[in-house]
Amino acid sequence: MPCDGAGKEVVPEAIKVLRAAGADFEFEQFDVNADAYLRTGVAIPDDVWKQLAAADAILFGAVGDPRVQDPNYLAGVLLRLRFELDLYVNLRPAKLYDDRLSPLRREDRRRTDLLIMRENTEGLYVGMGGRFKKGTEEEIATQEDVNTHLGVTRIIEHAFKTAKREVVMVDKSNAMVFAGGLWQECWKAVAAANPKVKTRHLLVDAAAMQLVKDPSQFDVIVTGNLFGDILSDLTAELVGGMGIAPSANINPSSGRGLFEPVHGTAPDIAGKGMVNPVGAILSAAMMVKHLGVPDMADAIEGAVESAIRARECTRDIGGDLSTSQAGDAIVKRLKD
Ligand code: IPM
Ligand code: MN
Repeated sequence: MPCDGAGKEVVPEAIKVLRAAGADFEFEQFDVNADAYLRTGVAIPDDVWKQLAAADAILFGAVGDPRVQDPNYLAGVLLRLRFELDLYVNLRPAKLYDDRLSPLRREDRRRTDLLIMRENTEGLYVGMGGRFKKGTEEEIATQEDVNTHLGVTRIIEHAFKTAKREVVMVDKSNAMVFAGGLWQECWKAVAAANPKVKTRHLLVDAAAMQLVKDPSQFDVIVTGNLFGDILSDLTAELVGGMGIAPSANINPSSGRGLFEPVHGTAPDIAGKGMVNPVGAILSAAMMVKHLGVPDMADAIEGAVESAIRARECTRDIGGDLSTSQAGDAIVKRLKD
């Protein structure tokens, strides 16, 4: 699903790299995009939905278009896929492939290789709430933060399963006492059941500060939907910017998954051959790993790292290649 803008440029690069890595997949492309939405008023047609729901994995570009201001489009594509396929874990790794890409100057603190594990199906994203006395000066708008015992427990459990060094649970339990109280209780229960995994808690503001101060201290950060959205843009910038950040939206029980670069459609640069394909290519590597071929994922990641270090990459990370030349540079390393 390339969808819109930059997504249309980066997904073909990711597929090119997958083929070069020897991935024996059948791809099917769906024309879910803003043009179709403007034409039909339907975000995902029913027959397409059935095929998407049955796919082994979805490789996703980016959704959104300046011509579509209607929030139902975004909700009907990306949020619908996350919610209805119950992809409750959103994995957003941040790994520094080349020192020069870090904005941090202290060498001993630059070694970033962490994972934001974002709850992906509830929180402030569920769309509960409303606007009362709309359009008047007394208008009230509410947006409910929905946290369930099951939802919070399962994401924290997955964090404990995934962590190599430590799980840091991030919330805002000093100010948001109801939601924060539930996160605290679920976290303590899961921690007690996993005594071998180190763990600690940070409030989200302190976590933002610590991420800039010394990102090398972190392994897995588990947090709610909105905090995970915000912190993962911060961590993307720590390792070179939005152009290279990948993500995986998965359900570890059903095995379903959707894999997308963290960046959006980049309307300002889309269509000019300038967008960085690395975020999409690393998302494809996460997909391959999820599908049970970790060696191929490692090979793709290694090829990406080596291309970045040789500055065979797009301008945003210090090279001078176009989108497809940057894809070719990675393909070439896979074949060597
Ligand atoms: C992301 C994006 C989405 C989100 C938007 C497009 C709804 O920012 O994947 O991080 O907030 O989840
Ligand atoms: Mn985001």
